[in-house]
Amino acid sequence: MSVATEKLVVVDHPLVQHKLGMLRDDSTPTHLFRQLVDEVTLLLTYEATKDFATEEIEIETPLERTTVQRISGKKVAVCPILRAGLGMLDGVLSLISGARVGFIGLYRNEETLQPVEYYVKLPADVAARDVILLDPMLATGNSTAAAVSTVKSAGATSVRLIAIIAAPEGIERLHSEHPDVPVVVAAVDRGLNEKGYIVPGLGDAGDRLFGTK
Ligand code: URA
Repeated sequence: MSVATEKLVVVDHPLVQHKLGMLRDDSTPTHLFRQLVDEVTLLLTYEATKDFATEEIEIETPLERTTVQRISGKKVAVCPILRAGLGMLDGVLSLISGARVGFIGLYRNEETLQPVEYYVKLPADVAARDVILLDPMLATGNSTAAAVSTVKSAGATSVRLIAIIAAPEGIERLHSEHPDVPVVVAAVDRGLNEKGYIVPGLGDAGDRLFGTK
């Protein structure tokens, strides 16, 4: 189940929404938060990949010859934006085990809210792959837009984003610079507070994933 506009899909499946509610809950402990991020990401990945091209091939079942579907498009590069995107990586890899993994290290200058790139390591053939960017919180959109620019500069022409929660400002910012990038999320929240946090949100996703607060 999902609610879609042209480049935004909000997955309102009961399992996703139930787990999102637990992620938002301040009393959810770190180990459970991590597991829930993994599970929600897996479910969002199912939605985010539904346009992958398939082709028909012939195989032998134990009983007879038949036609089956096989994914036929580009191979995948999954790129978590460090550090919180790391918590989403296994959720994608559990469905797309052959994906290559790239890393984009960005932190947010807390005064300007602008992204600062400190580490980039992408698969050498990223230009030939469908890129799935991972960032649990699409807040101002500045760091995600910068990450999209980074993979496009490396030659990628097919880029999509999986996030858990987005702010309307972040979606607008991302799509003003990169209107071609589909976004799949579990929720679009009210907006950003004065510190750039999504409200009601779930807090600092990195801190909650890694227990650093
Ligand atoms: N990053 C987070 O982890 N949480 C927010 O609410 C915004 C940005």
